[in-house]
Amino acid sequence: MGSLALLAFLGMVFLIVALPLTGYLLVGETAAKAQPGAVNPLSETWRDARQGTAGVTAVIAPQANVLITDSGQNWRQLRNGPLATYGAWLMILALVALAALFLVRGRVQIDGGESGMTVERWTLFDRVLHWFTAILFILLAITGLSLLYGRAVLMPVIGQEAFASYAQAAIYVHNYLGLFFGVGLVLMVLKWIRVNVPKGHDLSWFLSGGGLLKGKHPHAGFVNAGEKLLFWTLAVAGLAIVITGVILLFPQLGQSRETMQVSLLIHAAASIVVITFIFGHIYLATVAMKGSMAGMVGGRVDVNWARQHHDLWLKELEEKGVKPQPAPAKAETKVEQEPRPAAS
Ligand code: HEM
Repeated sequence: MGSLALLAFLGMVFLIVALPLTGYLLVGETAAKAQPGAVNPLSETWRDARQGTAGVTAVIAPQANVLITDSGQNWRQLRNGPLATYGAWLMILALVALAALFLVRGRVQIDGGESGMTVERWTLFDRVLHWFTAILFILLAITGLSLLYGRAVLMPVIGQEAFASYAQAAIYVHNYLGLFFGVGLVLMVLKWIRVNVPKGHDLSWFLSGGGLLKGKHPHAGFVNAGEKLLFWTLAVAGLAIVITGVILLFPQLGQSRETMQVSLLIHAAASIVVITFIFGHIYLATVAMKGSMAGMVGGRVDVNWARQHHDLWLKELEEKGVKPQPAPAKAETKVEQEPRPAAS
């Protein structure tokens, strides 16, 4: 039974890796196949267009009267070739690595179990900001990846017409939500930058692999070094995604085609890097570690979880005289169990 499960798992990984690559091969071959002996009646026109001859258009934009440029062909090859292929590999390898980590480490439990006493970790504003930005990011990632890989991966499965309708909807969702994500991201960076300033103990956190593989948990403040890495990746790559997104969204600003081509490559590459990090973030927050989701959902975390994962932060709270409070569910049970005052 165990080996069957392993086989199914390997088969799935293989399919995930093989499907996009097969898709590229199929699309590439279809494009290369010309009908033998067929003469394209527009071949003269296409030859002129291919050589960059300017035509006539009512559109007012730099190079709007040029149909095909060399830089466009290079851009297309970079986008459909190395960018999409290495991007797919990076994301798939990250998923495989996380699956392997889970097989080795399983779920990290809270040392000594839940104490039933909690401290506040994330305010309501923090949580609304996190989930607002996170939900938008996930929608943008799904629609963005559909636009990058959909032709190769989805079209052969759902057909040309269904894919065309889906891609049209995806581009609307992507374009309209992008700006809201930008607002969420900027607020997130401004709100959390102070706790994410690197400190000396972050280095030892990295050196001990965040305690994920070895038993002993390294020292960490309000956020640990891994979270700081996610934060700064989001701050740098995330802002690059937003800025290039704006360049792509508003061509009427007067930017050249080359600027837009470079912007799209940066936009897609930075997005793939952030998506890979977010895979790790979601895995750590949900499957890998017991106790962190409580903080981002209800705002409070168990004292034992805080001591295990963010000991320096808990020490700070204790020094400030912050008193832990019973967890809401435990508090209710306690009230129910309290003896009622005797009726007089
Ligand atoms: C289903 C998806 C997600 C889940 C379940 C999730 C869960 C969490 C949890 C539980 C925390 C708190 C960790 C702690 O208390 O130490 C957290 C923090 C955080 N999350 Fe998420 N998250 C998700 C998606 C995202 C996305 C898409 C982004 C970015 C666009 C994001 C950015 C952050 C950041 C920046 C922090 C704070 C870490 C720091 O300050 O360095 N999360 N998340």
